[in-house]
Amino acid sequence: MRIMVVGGGGREHAIIKYLAKSPKAEKIYCLPGNGGIAELAECVNIKAEDLDGLVKFAINNQIDFAVVAPDDPLVLGAVDRLEDAGIKCFGSRADAAIIEGSKIFAKNLMRKYNIPTANFEVFNDLDNALDYVKNSQAWPLVIKADGLAKGKGVVVAENLAQAEEALISSMRDKKFGSSGEKVLIEECLTGPEVSVLAFTDGKTLVPMVSSMDHKRAYDNNTGPNTGGMGVIAPNPHYDFNMAARCEREIFMPTINAMNKEGRKFKGCLYFGLMLTESGPKVIEYNCRFGDPETQAVLPLLNDECDLLEIMLAVSEERLSSVRVLFKWNCASCCVVLASREYPDSCKTGFEININKANIKDNINIFHAGTKLDNNKLVTAGGRVLAVTAAAQSEGLSQEGIADALAQARQDAYNAIKNISFDGMRFRSDIGLH
Ligand code: AMP
Ligand code: GLY
Repeated sequence: MRIMVVGGGGREHAIIKYLAKSPKAEKIYCLPGNGGIAELAECVNIKAEDLDGLVKFAINNQIDFAVVAPDDPLVLGAVDRLEDAGIKCFGSRADAAIIEGSKIFAKNLMRKYNIPTANFEVFNDLDNALDYVKNSQAWPLVIKADGLAKGKGVVVAENLAQAEEALISSMRDKKFGSSGEKVLIEECLTGPEVSVLAFTDGKTLVPMVSSMDHKRAYDNNTGPNTGGMGVIAPNPHYDFNMAARCEREIFMPTINAMNKEGRKFKGCLYFGLMLTESGPKVIEYNCRFGDPETQAVLPLLNDECDLLEIMLAVSEERLSSVRVLFKWNCASCCVVLASREYPDSCKTGFEININKANIKDNINIFHAGTKLDNNKLVTAGGRVLAVTAAAQSEGLSQEGIADALAQARQDAYNAIKNISFDGMRFRSDIGLH
């Protein structure tokens, strides 16, 4: 099969690594790709949001299957456009991708179908929103831009001044463009956070190994929210009982709700959950694989499973007919190496040095913001590399998995000692909280 993957980050690097193992994968293109992906796929300089460019490329290059990974093209309707041109796709159509594209849509869906989530109010008007926070007795409050904001549209406001600042910068100063003209103000929940990615064809849902993202920029969960600074999988707070409960109370009700709304969801649905004292609640949905969750989760896919076969089965709505198995006795730890200024805009173009000889076999170095500049690997974004280690435990006991995670952590941080670039910054506590 001739395959194209849309996107160019660490997530796409991981997806391509596992697609390339399939005997059916004859040729893989990545649009636009990056410096690491170039080792596995032919990178083509077409932006993920350039829908005309994607469709033209797919037709001109006889693409049999397209995987659309990032949120922007999914929400803009890349899958609709490609499918309408006769190209088979993995990814949600725009009418379903709205589950991420509009947080207000997602909250109203949950309210309508009794899916547990934080209480919320919707505001279209800055003055009304300012009045609401002025009268609030409960702090902190969570303020969210309605639309896509590169993972940065959420502020947990500890007090009135922070809430006012967040509202003004989103609604008046348009910090997130039109994405922030409408906002949600939510009750602040507490508890461990869990990410669950699931394959679904709109009928069957198969959750992958759970994971824990680390969204704050600095150690001890301080600093601004980022796209994600590191991930461990599985998530130690998410046991089999909780998994069964989430499937019953959240996952299947969400699939059913989308079907009832006439918005069948096919692709990877990401559940961002918080395990509160009153049970698991949805913090957010994403219409796609998480980044960097994917870099930690896909290495735990059982070696007998073929990612391409799974994605084809999702696309053809026969997910129940394929085996999707994970290495339940393994754990992984992914640490993001970021540029100095991340999550603000970053200086790029610094040479990246990787001493490959000292890096063990259980390590994957997934590239995010990198590019080849005259055959030299240089930084090209905020998140540069995602270093992932996987380790195996003797059995399935909680202690065994905890030991495997400790080993994976150690291996990931040891591998990082062999990597350097100007301004390289990472959290030293991934997996410790
Ligand atoms: P989101 O982009 O919606 O995942 O939000 C980013 C982060 O903000 C989440 O991972 C949480 O840590 C935090 N957050 C979002 N909503 C809430 C909430 N209602 N209560 C507490 N924390 C939240
Ligand atoms: N790591 C969070 C996300 O992909 O949205």
